[in-house]
Amino acid sequence: MDPQYLVDPFSIWDGLRETCPIPHTSRRKSSWMPLRYEDVTAIAHDIEHFSSLKVAVIPGDEDEDPNANFNGPNLEYGLPPISSDPPLHTWTRRLLLPWFSHKRVESYAPFTRNLCRGLLDGFADNGSADAAIDYAQQIPVRVIASILGVPTELADTFTGWVRDVLEFADDAERRQTGAMGLLHFFVQHLEDRRQHPGDDLLSELLQTEVDGHQINDGIVLGMAALVLIAGIDTTWSAIGSSLWHLAKHPHDRRRLAREPELMPTAIEELLRAYSPVTMARVVTQDIDYAGCPMKEGDKVLMNFPAANRDPTAFDHPEVVQLDRLHNRHVAFGSGIHRCAGSNLARMELRVALEEWLNRIPEFSLSEAEEITWAGGQVRGPRKLPVVFG
Ligand code: HEM
Repeated sequence: MDPQYLVDPFSIWDGLRETCPIPHTSRRKSSWMPLRYEDVTAIAHDIEHFSSLKVAVIPGDEDEDPNANFNGPNLEYGLPPISSDPPLHTWTRRLLLPWFSHKRVESYAPFTRNLCRGLLDGFADNGSADAAIDYAQQIPVRVIASILGVPTELADTFTGWVRDVLEFADDAERRQTGAMGLLHFFVQHLEDRRQHPGDDLLSELLQTEVDGHQINDGIVLGMAALVLIAGIDTTWSAIGSSLWHLAKHPHDRRRLAREPELMPTAIEELLRAYSPVTMARVVTQDIDYAGCPMKEGDKVLMNFPAANRDPTAFDHPEVVQLDRLHNRHVAFGSGIHRCAGSNLARMELRVALEEWLNRIPEFSLSEAEEITWAGGQVRGPRKLPVVFG
């Protein structure tokens, strides 16, 4: 959350990777933060020593505040699969995956394209816009709402709750408002879907049986809230950071507009270079990891974005190469919790950039207004004024 870190975390990671690649802090309890690709991926795979029962990066106080990690009375299982270990993780993840398969995701593309075009209609002739607020922020929330079967008109309310939970989690009151807002909404909405099932993810979860039993309501609630939380800030941040990069780098912008066939590798590269998501793990038993005496209960901040800038894993990681061929980035994590929505995120990013470049091929950052970045668990631009035409 440090102002310098928000604007330029890259040079901080680079410096630390050389001198102290797994820094430790006692602020907000004891936490470690691996910065090397090798360590981040190794820890992500070691589910025996590093549990996902506490994945929130910011609060660090779930023990005192039961709502901090959505472990309140209605959500005794948190937000599975992301905040669970096997066996709960295994079957809850399996239920979500079909909704985000390649085939399903392509069926959401026309909706996404229309949405992007409608947004562009609203400002393309104005000569200026906020690429984060007027565009990036508006897209994922509506796509996710339609998949979940919740009203898209509530998009701004959902966005507010999710920001309270992730971006403003440092403010206990806002965090609670967001968590409670989401919770109460889904409790009511679930009841409605039980009475009037539709063709959506929530209705399906309510009708699914696992081992001959209906799924516990708290688990359905947690899964629904997770899909909303995981699908909004993350993708909006990735779209925003990509537009920020293209606004700042005319060569890349023109190349991508001229060579649209580069889009698939360009998207992977933009995801690598500006990975938005850091997750936490909790140490299950004392362990000496790479010389670090980690204690039971310590947090480990899984810095996937820093791993993606590690020069031992990527040639010149500081340079964005839209045609980078070898790119085993971990923007979507690694191991059993690897992002279940990565196909959806990629489709949204692709469609959002294609439509923007189609309509506004030439644009640059506005010099008159300030750009702001969110830090913490999900990094991305929150104000991104651009000018064009
Ligand atoms: C660019 C956008 C996105 C990024 C960078 C991203 C990143 C991540 C990361 C790093 C994880 C791993 C968490 C961990 O290891 O603890 C994850 C998990 C997850 N993501 Fe995404 N995500 C994005 C978009 C989405 C979307 C659109 C959805 C749609 C619902 C989604 C749903 C999930 C779910 C359900 C999990 C939990 C998987 C599990 O625990 O097995 N994500 N995501």
